[in-house]
Amino acid sequence: MKEQISSFDEYQKVYQESLNDPSKFWGDYARENFVWKKPWNKVYSADFEKAKFSWFEGAALNITENCLDRHLSERGDQTAIIWEPNEPGEQHKTFTYNELHAEVCRVANALKSIGVKKGDRVCLYLPMVPELAFAVLACARIGAVHSVVFAGFSSKSLSDRINDASCSVVLTSDGGPRGEKVTPLKDIVDQALESCDCVDTVVVLNRANNDCAMTEGRDIWWHDFIDGQSSKCPAEEMDSEDPLFILYTSGSTGKPKGMVHSSGGYMVYTTYSFQQVFQYKPGDIYWCTADIGWITGHSYIVYGPLSAGATTVMFEGTPAYPDMGRFWDVVDKYKVNIFYTAPTAIRALAQCDPAHLTRTTRESLRVLGTVGEPINQEAWDWYNTEIGGGDCPIVDTWWQTETGGILISPLAGVTPIKPTYATLPLPGIQPVLMDENGVEIPDMEAEGRLCMKQPWPSMARTIYGNHQRYINTYFSQFPGFYFTGDGSRRDSDGDYRITGRVDDIVIVSGHNLGTAEIEDAIDEHKAVAEAAVVGYPHEVKGNSICAFLTLEKHSENYPNLFTEVLDLVSETIGPIAKPERMYIVPGLPKTRSGKIMRRILRKLAAGETDNLGDISTLLNPEVVEAIKSEMGL
Ligand code: WTA
Repeated sequence: MKEQISSFDEYQKVYQESLNDPSKFWGDYARENFVWKKPWNKVYSADFEKAKFSWFEGAALNITENCLDRHLSERGDQTAIIWEPNEPGEQHKTFTYNELHAEVCRVANALKSIGVKKGDRVCLYLPMVPELAFAVLACARIGAVHSVVFAGFSSKSLSDRINDASCSVVLTSDGGPRGEKVTPLKDIVDQALESCDCVDTVVVLNRANNDCAMTEGRDIWWHDFIDGQSSKCPAEEMDSEDPLFILYTSGSTGKPKGMVHSSGGYMVYTTYSFQQVFQYKPGDIYWCTADIGWITGHSYIVYGPLSAGATTVMFEGTPAYPDMGRFWDVVDKYKVNIFYTAPTAIRALAQCDPAHLTRTTRESLRVLGTVGEPINQEAWDWYNTEIGGGDCPIVDTWWQTETGGILISPLAGVTPIKPTYATLPLPGIQPVLMDENGVEIPDMEAEGRLCMKQPWPSMARTIYGNHQRYINTYFSQFPGFYFTGDGSRRDSDGDYRITGRVDDIVIVSGHNLGTAEIEDAIDEHKAVAEAAVVGYPHEVKGNSICAFLTLEKHSENYPNLFTEVLDLVSETIGPIAKPERMYIVPGLPKTRSGKIMRRILRKLAAGETDNLGDISTLLNPEVVEAIKSEMGL
């Protein structure tokens, strides 16, 4: 691997070079650090108007040759994956690069044996078991497009995603152990498939010894699926722009968006950012606590670390099981050097009995990271002092499912750290702030909407099956720029501090939730006439969900309304989307054109009763007082 940036001066120099001549910068890096089957004709081309971007056009590669094969001669016996099970008493597993290569090839051959071909979509609905990583890489090996669905989503969310991408195969397990619960994943798949016609095979891993029904002719056990398969499988030649995977993320309106990521650019950028941000050194043990069901797991448990030849930890459980000391036990157990988690976990852990912490040493830790939402000062201080002992740099990494990789972050120990700031852009990344009129703000010190001026290799290429929605969501509000949906402040040093979403997406415990999707789920209840959902600040989760409902007439027949509504949300989206607070109100504040004024509801949910703004223009200003009294404000 090319040398990592090692000083702030060098960062500034490299950053300038990367913007002056992006083609040279990315071309050199890509050429020197990866195995390509065919070189590119052009490093990149960009058309912001049509939202058409391509990187390493004309090149051919297979990402798994870079994550696996090329390491075998040098580090075939080095551990690639350490897997820590949910139960601390269960034997953990490790896989060397040689072993991982063989496992991936077996699954790849098994997929081929049931007819999966390049370009076919395969849905992975699995717990955090090694087989999930094998399956992700096996799809990439044969050019199939994986669509990983987080195993906490409901059957309805799962069937929507399977149908949207017309997946022909689902890989799942009999159960998913997490904490004290075992989620019956196969039952959820069965339910989902009642409304999917596209799936012809379901492969079921026996993870939990759960009883589950097997449908003759459709379902097959994982061990039978891979039985007798060869541990060698040629890597499919992929065009750099061929899709690698689809991953769904919530939108501010409508159904979740299937973000499509490409092969070449994604590989180059996840590897580069992994190396630079975490400053991974050979021999380091790296642990990202995310789930592979989210982008963080894709880019920084699987692809980035493995392409960089790292040792990456995969954890099946939760930070709270069997008690709040689990993360630190695991850190000590494997002598983790680099630890990457979410602010919501940090806040929860900071609140618990310090004995959970003091029973461990955590002395192996060198670098700490956070991702997914803004980290508040208090949580930052605790992470820094209690976990890092004051001498581990904290990389506050800002990025998105859409960006594929980290765009704004300190480089650990190299660029300056500023608490609660994601700080500076990575080389090749050019953030700008826009004012409300869509004009770029030239001043250094400013606050505005965060956009990107320059394309980067791992940006999503489209929304599966709906390129127009991709254009509308990200490229039309500020023509010529990529719009992130986030607000940000920039200080006089040029450091960025992300202030949060500026659209109708709420981040709860690091999970993005579209309020419109939750409203649609609640509206399904017979007694509900209309629902409005907003986020409000929450001490541990960052944000929580508050729902306001108006009822149909005669709805007094529903004594268990709140429970039924919560169940509906759970069934339609998943338990993570359940409102924490609900109010039945006589009306929702509306503009004269009939739009719900969420701004007012957001303030009320946050407990703010002053500065509601001008409510006299509302169609029904009187409801504001009624809502306040319902809320006890
Ligand atoms: C938020 C997760 C502040 C942001 C990788 C973004 C952050 C959304 C940070 C994307 C951070 C992510 N500081 N906010 N370090 N990282 N966000 O798609 O609002 O699950 O738009 O990707 O999370 O969430 P997603």
